Amino acid sequence: MLAHTVLRAGTKKTCSTLSVVRGLATVSQNQPRLKSFKVYRWSPDTPDIKPHMQEYKIDLNECGPMVLDALLKIKNEQDATLTFRRSCREGICGSCAMNIGGRNTLACLCKIDQNESTELKIYPLPHMFVVRDLVPDLTHFYKQYKSIQPFLQRDSVPTDGKENLQSIEDRKKLDGLYECILCACCSTSCPSYWWNQQEYLGPAVLMQAYRWLIDSRDQASVARKEMLQNSMSLYRCHTIMNCARTCPKGLNPGKAIAEIKKQLAFD
Ligand code: SF4
Ligand code: SF4
Ligand code: FES
Repeated sequence: MLAHTVLRAGTKKTCSTLSVVRGLATVSQNQPRLKSFKVYRWSPDTPDIKPHMQEYKIDLNECGPMVLDALLKIKNEQDATLTFRRSCREGICGSCAMNIGGRNTLACLCKIDQNESTELKIYPLPHMFVVRDLVPDLTHFYKQYKSIQPFLQRDSVPTDGKENLQSIEDRKKLDGLYECILCACCSTSCPSYWWNQQEYLGPAVLMQAYRWLIDSRDQASVARKEMLQNSMSLYRCHTIMNCARTCPKGLNPGKAIAEIKKQLAFD
């Protein structure tokens, strides 16, 4: 009984100390930290209204740390018409790719600059047709991805009739390539892709072309190389390396493109 009383008294003291601390925190947190977000807006439903930037103010005390948190807060609390793609919110699906503060990246992996005095501008991925607001039209991008036949091709089945085995060394060659989430941040940051999008495959798709070209289990490398052996599909890459600088997954499509060029040169 005595122990119970002591424990309760101790608990009470701790709680009251905590409430003082919480009280102080509440006072400082009650000061709103309003930050301005300027977001690109355009809707096909109102063709007379030109694309424009719309400003939203958000209290950073009430918002999660990432740009996607801010966009969701705007959509939930201020403007339900704001349109953007997102799904996983952890850098896996690639759907929240957009241009944030001048750089192509994933909104869910991009931290909000906590300095309230600077505004943050958010645009859709550059040099793409816009479906609405922050949603780019990726139809052509996916068509290009399909064109490189991104799947295993073999003339023969495995001897045991089960799996196509690969050595540990050969598997390692795919590291830095298979992690691509096809967000299109790299392709839409590439000047060559901006100007020659209809024919140049761009860094994202070319990196996947290389991923299949060096897969030891694949037997279609001759046809795969032939597809790239023309002046436009591959050779519009001028090694400007914007692609590697912007990739939110830390990959290097420019290097993969250089490796394809080497393979074609020594064939
Ligand atoms: S290489 Fe990087 S930037 Fe390009 S599509 Fe893949 S994950 Fe996105
Ligand atoms: S390295 Fe090639 S693919 Fe990458 S940004 Fe430069 S031109 Fe584009
Ligand atoms: S929501 Fe999936 S990558 Fe950002």
